[in-house]
Amino acid sequence: MSLIRLAYASEATFDAQPVAKGVEPHVARILMTSRKNNARVGLVGGLYYGNNRFFQYLEGEEEDVHKTFDRIKRDDRHRNILTLIEEPIEARTFSDWSMKYVPLSEDVRSFLERHRLDSFHPQSFTAEQCEEMIQLIRDSNQSQKLVNYDEAEPVPTRKGPEAPSGLRYGLIAAAVCLVGALIYAGTLL
Ligand SMILES: Cc1cc2nc3c(=O)[nH]c(=O)nc-3n(C[C@H](O)[C@H](O)[C@H](O)COP(=O)(O)O)c2cc1C
Repeated sequence: MSLIRLAYASEATFDAQPVAKGVEPHVARILMTSRKNNARVGLVGGLYYGNNRFFQYLEGEEEDVHKTFDRIKRDDRHRNILTLIEEPIEARTFSDWSMKYVPLSEDVRSFLERHRLDSFHPQSFTAEQCEEMIQLIRDSNQSQKLVNYDEAEPVPTRKGPEAPSGLRYGLIAAAVCLVGALIYAGTLL
């Protein structure tokens, strides 16, 4: 059993759809699949999407990282996949995230400014820029909410189980009857 980390850059093949808020629909679907699959095999990491490019970072058991990356490389939603980092690690550092998503934020803008980069182009990141980007994703406290664009794949929520609506209406009707019965009983006394 050996842990590794892997970072790569790629270029999206889809035309980004403008969204008023939330995550671009293609990216939202990728995130939903990633979170589901990665959680199953204990992979953690983060994804950044900007300027039509991806920067993804993964940590986990070597075999699981490789299996997942093989699937990712075959995905036609991106191309020009360039591995930036692949090396052993002692322990996972993204303990809570099967796939953390960072939207364009002040952090990313100041990262680009600091490195005098006109646009987000992770394929040409230096080793130092890769590490900074990973740290930025790790530290980001941006909202992770996904807007559900795909009815076939509902977004899991953290709410507790809800009573089915039929049961809810039944309970309301029973409560109304009970109150009515109590009022009637009151009039008889
Ligand atoms: C940029 C990008 C990142 C992705 N990251 C992951 C990932 O971390 N984990 C994952 O399982 N799939 C990821 N995918 C999706 C895979 O390519 C593939 O569609 C998916 O694993 C298939 O899963 P399924 O067999 O459950 O449908 C990613 C795809 C893209 C384009």
